[in-house]
Amino acid sequence: MTNHYERIKNKKVLVTGGLGFVGHNLVKTLVDDYNCTLIVVDNCANSNPAILGSHIDKVAFSQISVLDTDKLFPLLADVNYIFHLACKQISASGTEPLDDLKVNAESTLLLLDYIKNNPLPALERFVYASSCSVYGSSTILPISENDPTIVLSNYAATKLLGENYTMIYNRSNDIPTSSVRYSNVFGYGQSPRNPYCGVLGKFVHNALTGLPLCVIGDGEQTRDYTFVSDAVNATILAAVHPKALGEVFNVGTGIETSVNRLAEIIKESVPGISIEHLPERDIDNIRRRSTNIEKIHQQLGWSPLINIKQGIDETLKWYKNTL
Ligand SMILES: NC(=O)c1ccc[n+]([C@@H]2O[C@H](COP(=O)([O-])OP(=O)(O)OC[C@H]3O[C@@H](n4cnc5c(N)ncnc54)[C@H](O)[C@@H]3O)[C@@H](O)[C@H]2O)c1
Repeated sequence: MTNHYERIKNKKVLVTGGLGFVGHNLVKTLVDDYNCTLIVVDNCANSNPAILGSHIDKVAFSQISVLDTDKLFPLLADVNYIFHLACKQISASGTEPLDDLKVNAESTLLLLDYIKNNPLPALERFVYASSCSVYGSSTILPISENDPTIVLSNYAATKLLGENYTMIYNRSNDIPTSSVRYSNVFGYGQSPRNPYCGVLGKFVHNALTGLPLCVIGDGEQTRDYTFVSDAVNATILAAVHPKALGEVFNVGTGIETSVNRLAEIIKESVPGISIEHLPERDIDNIRRRSTNIEKIHQQLGWSPLINIKQGIDETLKWYKNTL
């Protein structure tokens, strides 16, 4: 059986948003497991080079914006893979909508259009990090890539736009693109100070610092939580697999977990923590979500390896050593 992952070994890779939560985990994996030569692009809007630890010396880091094309485009020469992860976070997309549009979508268009006009012969794949937030308030469970999108935030709109650009430039200009729609990624390296670290990041942080876990509403709202190493492996597979070309894939587990269940799991590992209930907010407008992962499973042979309990335990371990 072909090991598609082998294809990225020793290759030159550029990761935008490479200091972010998913980005720095991707960078470390590409360096450690695949001996890739890394160019990491990040403007540190929401991150710090320290997150890479000693890996910072193993990569070429450029502290630039993805919108600074004069500095970005020359970095693209000879790269084999581009992973475009830089983003404006969902929490800021309502208050800074133009910035959200620029970082999430315009930068994608600029990159693709540059590649169209200045073909990069070495380029094997351009991977765009999209989001299951494009499904919005859909009540379809589990939701598939072909189900309707219902965008509820500027972030979801600009993520979908970025994704659509990758599809258009693939179909019309033969640029080798793939997109992954992540579902609630969690795990080590997620800063609890990051306003979009998600409920799990906040719960883990609070549990280990003696603060109560704040459950909003009745706690029966569900999401499909994906452990970061699974998300990273799916992203690399979307880059190397021939059947991922021009496609978009859900990256999740297919399993719904309620906020109450998350709190229970954490309580099992950190006894003595308290749980506080807070009233529902206007923004809590998505009751349930789980993603159908048949497409990535059937087409690329990917399945998540880490279940929610294992993922939470790994995350607790990491936070204990880091905090
Ligand atoms: N974490 C999740 O659960 C999740 C879910 C769905 C989709 N995604 C997508 O996956 C990707 C990675 O998400 P993440 O959780 O690692 O986000 P993150 O916020 O941790 O990382 C994003 C990185 O982009 C950088 N950045 C922001 N603006 C930039 C600019 N103009 N130029 C260069 N760098 C810039 C930030 O400094 C940060 O390091 C994003 O595209 C996001 O939309 C993430």
